[in-house]
Amino acid sequence: MTNKKFYVVVAFLVIAATILSACGTPASKQVEVFSWWVGPGEADGLAAMVVVFNAQYPSITFVNAAVAGGAGTNAKAVLATRLAANDPPDSWQAHAGQETIANYVAAGQVKPLDDLFASTGFSKVLPATLLPLISKDGHPYSVPVNIHRSNVMWFNPKVLAEAGVTANPKTDFATLDAFFAVCDQIKAAGKICLSLGAPWTAVHLFENIMIGTMGADKWNGLWATPPTTDWNGADVAAGLANYAKALSYTNADASTLPDWQTASKMVSDGDAAFNIMGDWAYGYFANAAPNGLALTPHTDFDWAVSPGTYGIFNFLSDSFVLPVGAKHPDAALDWLTVAASKAGQEAFNPKKGSICARTDCNQALFSEYSQDAAKDWTSNVVVGSLMHGVVAAPAWATSISTAVGLFQTDTSKTADFQAALVAACKTDGTCK
Ligand code: GAL
Repeated sequence: MTNKKFYVVVAFLVIAATILSACGTPASKQVEVFSWWVGPGEADGLAAMVVVFNAQYPSITFVNAAVAGGAGTNAKAVLATRLAANDPPDSWQAHAGQETIANYVAAGQVKPLDDLFASTGFSKVLPATLLPLISKDGHPYSVPVNIHRSNVMWFNPKVLAEAGVTANPKTDFATLDAFFAVCDQIKAAGKICLSLGAPWTAVHLFENIMIGTMGADKWNGLWATPPTTDWNGADVAAGLANYAKALSYTNADASTLPDWQTASKMVSDGDAAFNIMGDWAYGYFANAAPNGLALTPHTDFDWAVSPGTYGIFNFLSDSFVLPVGAKHPDAALDWLTVAASKAGQEAFNPKKGSICARTDCNQALFSEYSQDAAKDWTSNVVVGSLMHGVVAAPAWATSISTAVGLFQTDTSKTADFQAALVAACKTDGTCK
């Protein structure tokens, strides 16, 4: 090559490189995914699904926009600010149910996913319970990646043995009274019976105590339009009395704890006997460091369904949406395709403590805990979670959370608490 030709080629390459970087390629081939899965018990599942995504779409950079804070308490506030500023991430985590439908779909912030569902055959592998919870007027609006169980009670078998407890949480807590009797034994032995964490975990406890008191049908009746269970009636009053009693067995510093992990760890550390927390806690207990405690099931920790809820599966489902105005809509669809896929869900769920939303995952990939949960999911009576977006529109759920928080400061005020719950239902418009 002559010198002249050489310089022409170099000049051409420089110009081409400049144009490419100005267009932002390949740097602009990215997908920004927003969730609250950061840190212990939360991050490993997402990381495993990102490995699948990166293998299938090597030219797209996965940008992890996760904001820490259990149940999305912080993340949802950050997301709302971004949406108000017209700056949506390319996809975000949203719970199946009212959180998606009464919020993002109603506000016109997300797009229907009929084409994706058709091209991937996703609706054929989704359980019948789930499809209506992510659909409006027959169009699906989000991709569920999992099923989590809310009504799990984790316990430390050593703490029970040391306190002389002979009752078996897996079979002997058909009523809350049976559980409270054991709590008295634990308390007498100088331990916390029921560990509790940051404020949202009190709402998580609240829903499971209510279900444990009134059963599945009456719980469902609270969310029917109009409600068939009276918010002002005796069933709710009995639930609140049990909730007050349950709180009396919790650690006094609960509301100052940073999140849910601290309360779950009190159980595995042997400071508390029980913790009612969703099965993301399984990932935290069982996964390897740094995000897990690498504990041994049945020895270091064990599980039962929460008292009074045998045969009931209180569920929630994490899903991902396609925003209106996403900066990288094609890459967002690629992300959703992985989230919907068998490979994506089989990578994500064993680490997350959840089971697949899909019905065709290979059960051999899952822990004994998750295999049990998968059986219960198809054989139990399924009800929806309040704290995690299924049964109530976000504004209603927030009013209930406020009432729960207030009640925690003075548990003698059950009448005021019930009045606040009645008012919250009226403000939502579901109660007349
Ligand atoms: C739930 C979410 C779970 C888990 C949990 C604790 O709302 O659905 O995936 O992350 O919060 O943060």
